[in-house]
Amino acid sequence: MSDLIRAAEAEQLARAPHVDPRWRPRFHITAPAGWINDPNGMCWFAGEYHVFYQFNPYGTEWGTMHWGHASSTDLVNWRNRGVAMAPDAGYDADGCYSGSAVVLGEELVLLYTGHREERAESGLPDPARFDQTQNVASSRDGVTFVKDPRNPALAGHPQDGTAHLRDPKVWRHREHWYMVLGNEQQGGTGRALLYRSPDLWQWQALGAIAESDGSTGYMWECPDLFELDGRHVLVISPMGVHTEGHGPDPQFHAGALVGSFDYDTHRLDHGPYTEMDWGHEHYAVQTMAVPDGRRIAIGWMMPAAGQPSEKGDGWAGVLTLPRELHVTPEDRLTMRPIAELELLRGERLFAGDTLVEGQFDTGVRLDSAEILIDADLAGSIVDQVGFTLDLGAGAHVHVGLDRRAGELVVDRGGPDGSRRARLDPGERLLLRAFVDRSTLEVFTGSGLVTMSSRIYPSAQPRLALSSAGGPTRFSVEVFAMRAMQVDDVPPLGAAPLAP
Ligand code: FRU
Repeated sequence: MSDLIRAAEAEQLARAPHVDPRWRPRFHITAPAGWINDPNGMCWFAGEYHVFYQFNPYGTEWGTMHWGHASSTDLVNWRNRGVAMAPDAGYDADGCYSGSAVVLGEELVLLYTGHREERAESGLPDPARFDQTQNVASSRDGVTFVKDPRNPALAGHPQDGTAHLRDPKVWRHREHWYMVLGNEQQGGTGRALLYRSPDLWQWQALGAIAESDGSTGYMWECPDLFELDGRHVLVISPMGVHTEGHGPDPQFHAGALVGSFDYDTHRLDHGPYTEMDWGHEHYAVQTMAVPDGRRIAIGWMMPAAGQPSEKGDGWAGVLTLPRELHVTPEDRLTMRPIAELELLRGERLFAGDTLVEGQFDTGVRLDSAEILIDADLAGSIVDQVGFTLDLGAGAHVHVGLDRRAGELVVDRGGPDGSRRARLDPGERLLLRAFVDRSTLEVFTGSGLVTMSSRIYPSAQPRLALSSAGGPTRFSVEVFAMRAMQVDDVPPLGAAPLAP
């Protein structure tokens, strides 16, 4: 173990007892202390699922990127496995950036971007002058990684692109390894570049499989290409896209191009860019294929600007729940919560069939919970139907179908308050929502709309159902969700908000 890994783990242990757990989710991956962003290296290896993540142990801001690590036997109870990589190799001196994992024989192999900035005369790194190389680290036990002395595996960048070349996603197809990298083309358009190798070391550049048409961002981060339901999907995190339903602000969101990829021409013939998640906070998605054939995605709930944040609590950043992906016959990507989440269901807090007109206060308080709503819209004249969480101190978040607009809305108030996504639920509105202290993830029954947002309650949220402009029959179930089992300090269940 390198000195920097030892130092990072000691730092994490020292900081963890001082973390304020009031907003720390109990069944989501978070760091015990410090900052996290992108999920990395998602894979199945030696009987366990692994999720790594971008991790700064030294503060609650982005900085000095390490790889943190969590593993699980069931995709819902995650153990903290400490720090897998630290920026200790020269070529990654300014960060072990995002990447992926492949299994090679008995070894788990990570491919990641080493970020290094040139030193200015002052001796300090100059963020404007940097290089990004692609590197390899491997492990036999899935926990302790050794960076390969042959690194970098790929250095430099194409002439027609800038030095922003990162986030390798690697997979095997027939007798070759393939890798996609995110890149900014000269002139400021994002693209995904493809490389091929017989051995993970000699990489041949095969050009762009897809690129921005000008409306889909100046830089593509975290590309991920895979086959699903007989189609191909390229997931990207484009920077600088404006899509309908978003406020003016962050324009960081993850989306997908669905179509057909040709291994001879190296092009993805695809339909329009669509977002994967219309909530306020969702970025840098990565996927993995698991042994039973499912394709599972996890994203990072990248904080939108102007929000309260948990940074003052000694931790920052949370990954989304794992979602199962599919492609519809119309080439739409769907996301649904993985089935395993039912393992965490605890007490049933509420169940009932209720006719609601206006607001109906269920009286139920949610700490970590799942809400299932089936609202009957057959012959209905209502304008709006959904639910509201009273977050205390006059704050609310409202989730509902705006029937006139034909949109699902998550409105948490404040700057950039509402996010909207097109939704035509037909005669039944099926919503499934997970609340986990400071996270809210809403899924529709069709899987076509997902909305992930952060919330900052000052008391345990109180659930009300709402129907405006007429009555709606609701069938509702609410379950408490158990804290996942972690060997973690402080324990995730500690000190809930007051009811
Ligand atoms: C996406 C990203 C990646 C990069 C990493 C650095 O959020 O910017 O492109 O590898 O984060 O932490």
